Amino acid sequence: MKKKKATSSSINWVGVVSFFVLIAFIMQMAILCYDFITQKTSNLSLIAVLILIEIIILSTLCTLFDWVRRKIMVDRPTRKILQATEKIAEGDFSTRLEIKHEYGKYNEYDLIMENLNKMATELQKNEVLKTDFISNVSHEIKTPLAVIQNYATLLQDETLDIKTRKDYSKTLISASKRITDLITNILKLNKLENQEIKEKHEAFNLTEALSESVVEFETLIEKKNLELNCDFDDVTIFSSKSLLEIVWNNLISNAIKFTPSGGKIDISLKQIDKNVEIKVIDTGVGMTSETGSKIFEKFYQGDTSHASAGNGLGLALVKKVIDILGGEIAVSSEINKGSTFTILLKDVVYEL
Ligand SMILES: Nc1ncnc2c1ncn2[C@@H]1O[C@H](COP(=O)(O)OP(=O)(O)O)[C@@H](O)[C@H]1O
Ligand SMILES: [Mg+2]
Repeated sequence: MKKKKATSSSINWVGVVSFFVLIAFIMQMAILCYDFITQKTSNLSLIAVLILIEIIILSTLCTLFDWVRRKIMVDRPTRKILQATEKIAEGDFSTRLEIKHEYGKYNEYDLIMENLNKMATELQKNEVLKTDFISNVSHEIKTPLAVIQNYATLLQDETLDIKTRKDYSKTLISASKRITDLITNILKLNKLENQEIKEKHEAFNLTEALSESVVEFETLIEKKNLELNCDFDDVTIFSSKSLLEIVWNNLISNAIKFTPSGGKIDISLKQIDKNVEIKVIDTGVGMTSETGSKIFEKFYQGDTSHASAGNGLGLALVKKVIDILGGEIAVSSEINKGSTFTILLKDVVYEL
């Protein structure tokens, strides 16, 4: 961030001029008084006493002037700043200070006030984010918890046949898995945001890593009767294998989730000079451009018909990882036609 300085125009010209006027006034007064005293008397000790009195009166005047100046120019803004910091310290982040001077004519006090205003704005923003986050997490936990409570109650019925019991316990398992997934994702995101996950960079075969991720989804793909095409260049890259796994898993699981049975998923990996480009293309439900602009936000879920699976944190995680690795992610999509997620990892190709 660019540092703003108190500009040269912030020199207090009124103060400077008043200072010189005051000095001139005191000197003039001193000369006048001296002339007056020496005209009136030739008694040296009387002259000394009168000059002393004159000095006392003039210095009292100076002190008085300086006191008034301080009151207006130092004490007033200091008090305002103090009151504001007290309010902010008590948690009132809506506190703002009114800056008297125009922008560009700021003095040091104006800059302190401006910085305090910025600080309060940031704190207020964080407060909103925190509250939103808590309400989102609570909402995401409440739904599967309600499912667990309902089905656990139903399971208490001793007359239930084995099949129904199995179905209910399956629902219980998937609801508790949702909570576990949510907490895992929150912790991962938190660690990434606090930069606690030190991306361990290593040279690894991306083609193999990507294939391994795809294989994990094979059963799901078959179950949904989706056609899967993979076109991978053989590439070794120097990057974080574990962080990138988060990306592949989320993009592939979304492609499966948002593509109806009978649809198609194409995954490609291309080497372009020292960069690699990965595309995950599906023929699924697609999304509007409005949805597309929000999908990387935490807890955002565009397609509510699939909201029961997932928590809207997947793409937030993906984006965070790509940002950390200095890559790019783009999405293009059309409603009912499908979506294409493109990842560009820059300068990662590792020459063997
Ligand atoms: N392949 C896709 N096709 C259509 N919409 C998608 C696709 N991937 C993501 N989205 C949209 O982005 C939203 C956010 O995705 P994500 O963060 O992974 O959350 P979740 O999968 O839990 O809904 C989804 O709810 C959906 O609306
Ligand atoms: Mg997802």
